[in-house]
Amino acid sequence: MAAETVALASDHGGFELKEQLKKELAAKGYQVLDLGTNSADSVDYPDFGQALADAIASGKASKGVGLCGSGIGISIALNRKKGVRAALVHSGLEARLSRQHNDANVLVLGGRFTGIEVAKDALNEFMTAKFEGGRHTRRVEKLG
Ligand code: RB5
Repeated sequence: MAAETVALASDHGGFELKEQLKKELAAKGYQVLDLGTNSADSVDYPDFGQALADAIASGKASKGVGLCGSGIGISIALNRKKGVRAALVHSGLEARLSRQHNDANVLVLGGRFTGIEVAKDALNEFMTAKFEGGRHTRRVEKLG
């Protein structure tokens, strides 16, 4: 079976953490699609949120990881796109619940607020937890 493709995008505030999570995903055998940014130089998070949202909506990637300094700006940008369910989390448990209950397809982290161990735990939960369906299906469908 072909490896699942995971797209990543960040602004400068999430750049360093994106680089670390990219390595983590590659080491676990995922196909990685890095949509930038490619340095710590200042850029605008809506541009990177849109690129990641497009990759998810078009099916280029089945899941995504979005980052900015707080995680807030890129979450707002991502969730403007139909079919994108981006979850800003601060723990592995929230990441797991975002998959089980919300069928989130993008994990969002704040690069300036999230330590590497919490980020790795959240990434692992996000990549392995499954949507539970049932009553959650109706609710997710209502999101459009
Ligand atoms: C950039 O300084 C910062 O505003 C951005 O990374 C993010 O935190 C916005 O929500």
